[in-house]
Parts: sequence; C-alpha cells; structure tokens
Amino acid sequence: MIQEPVGHDPEGSEESEPEATRRDAGVAESSRANRGWWDRNADEYQVEHGTFLGDDRFVWCPEGLDEVEAELLGPAEELKGRDVLEIGAGAAQCARWLAAQGARPVALDLSHRQLQHALRIGSAFPLVCADAGALPFADASFDVVCSAYGALPFVADPRLVLREVRRVLRPGGRLVFSVTHPIRWAFPDEPGPEGLSVAASYFDRTPYVEQGDDGSAVYVEHHRTIGDRVRDIVSSGFRLVDLVEPEWPAWNTSEWGGWSPLRGNLIPGTAIFVCERD
Ligand SMILES: C[S@@+](CC[C@H](N)C(=O)[O-])C[C@H]1O[C@@H](n2cnc3c(N)ncnc32)[C@H](O)[C@@H]1O
Repeated sequence: MIQEPVGHDPEGSEESEPEATRRDAGVAESSRANRGWWDRNADEYQVEHGTFLGDDRFVWCPEGLDEVEAELLGPAEELKGRDVLEIGAGAAQCARWLAAQGARPVALDLSHRQLQHALRIGSAFPLVCADAGALPFADASFDVVCSAYGALPFVADPRLVLREVRRVLRPGGRLVFSVTHPIRWAFPDEPGPEGLSVAASYFDRTPYVEQGDDGSAVYVEHHRTIGDRVRDIVSSGFRLVDLVEPEWPAWNTSEWGGWSPLRGNLIPGTAIFVCERD
C-alpha cells in the first residue's frame, strides 16, 4: 500500500488507531475517506517523500524511473505547447517538470492540502481540486493525461475515471499512469524478507480499508489484476501500447513503505500503463 502502516498518527492525537481490514468500499466512501486521509497526511507525506520526488522532476514510481529517461509521454521536445492534465497530482512535481518543457499543464487532485503544497513550492499553472471520477473540463481539452500513482489506485470504479479521461482527451491523445504492481497485493506490504512470502490471493479484489471505531473508512486502496487493468483500458476506448514494469536500479538504496531494494530486485513493484485514445 502507498500509505504508511496503519496507526500512523502525525499529530499524536489520542484517538484510537484505525483498523486495517479487507472489505467492500464504494465510489463515494472511497473518495470521502481518501480525501480526508490525504488532507490529514499531506504534510508528513511531503516531508518524507518530497526530496526523493524533487520539486520539479517527473518521477513515475518508488523505483525512481524518471520521465527524462523513460519518455513514456513521448520525446520531451514534443511536449512543448501541449495541453497536459495530471490527475492525482499531489504537490504537482510532475506538472512542474511538464511546464519546464513548455507544456501547458493542469494539476488536479482530490486533496486540498496536497494542492496547498503545490502552491507552497510554486505553480505557474492551474491547480484544480476535484475527483478524477468527475473531471471539471470540457470534452477534448487535453493532448495528454498522466498520473504517477494518483487517483487510480484509490478509486472504486476505475472505468469511471478512464471514461472521463477519454472524454477530456483529444482524438489520438495519450494516457500514461502508474499504479502499484498488482502482484504486490499477494504479499505483505513490508520492505524486508517478510514481504517476500505470498500471504493473500492475487485474485482477491476486496479493497484494503482502514476504518475508524464507527466502521467508516478513513483510507481505501483498490486492487485490480493485470487482466482487469487491461480490460478497463480497452473497454474505456483506449489502445494499450505498452506496459512498463520498472526494474529496481542499483543507484536506488532508499525504501518507500513496502518498496525496497530487497523486494525490488525480486518482484515488480510498479506497473505503468501507456495508452492511446482511439
Ligand atoms: C501517492 S500520491 C501521488 C501524487 C504524486 N504523483 C506523488 O508521487 O506524490 C496520490 C495522490 O492521489 C490523490 N487522489 C486520491 N484519490 C483521488 C481521486 N479520486 N481523484 C483525484 N486525486 C486523488 C491523493 O490526494 C494524492 O495526492
């Protein structure tokens, strides 16, 4: 999972820790829970991961794959003048890199606090606080949509997001998004050796939920198998042109939650889907 282990409480409040479980969570409950979680935890997230991400780099994943080398959006020089939407942008590090290439980015996120960090770092482009499942843009507004672990791991209905992305993309436009590699859902989310033994069924799509005493979700992540992701993409009107599984590079000695050099050298941690709109 992308967040810190359950019980993490940056403000040290005396409220009881949320319970981690697997249970159903719908569109509205997932959106509400994740908006609250990211608003409460954005400050700590940026302190912990901001240096690794860099203020104006486009880093796709904890493996450290950088768009400068990956060119999953196409050659950087071809981004100049392009309208690009980043969904689940967080502090808009990727959008800032896009702006430096001459693109016209818009950074969208569900969390107001994450976008306040985008403002703190500095953003000479629009920031939009909205749910990726209801994009507040006209049809055919963008040439490219991208997301580095934003929105798609967290939504109960990824096809709703993909259909919205297709609607706001121009014909021939590109969508590239990264998510936790689905195989990771079969393993404990631990960076050490305990994270190397299968502990759950890869085929169990039941969401990961953290819930409070009253049973309401305070954090949700949703699992799709690789096949589910391919079917979501194709049935939403895209062609899948590449599926990138970044290998763990020797230079990267850092850990990010359950992502570590130990596990990264053995099993994939990220899946990046490169899609084109018909
Ligand atoms: C792991 S962060 C990724 C952001 C950035 N790429 C990074 O690496 O820090 C996930 C982001 O997705 C946002 N998010 C979660 N659910 C969302 C939704 N339904 N719509 C839009 N953004 C969402 C969160 O608020 C959070 O900022």
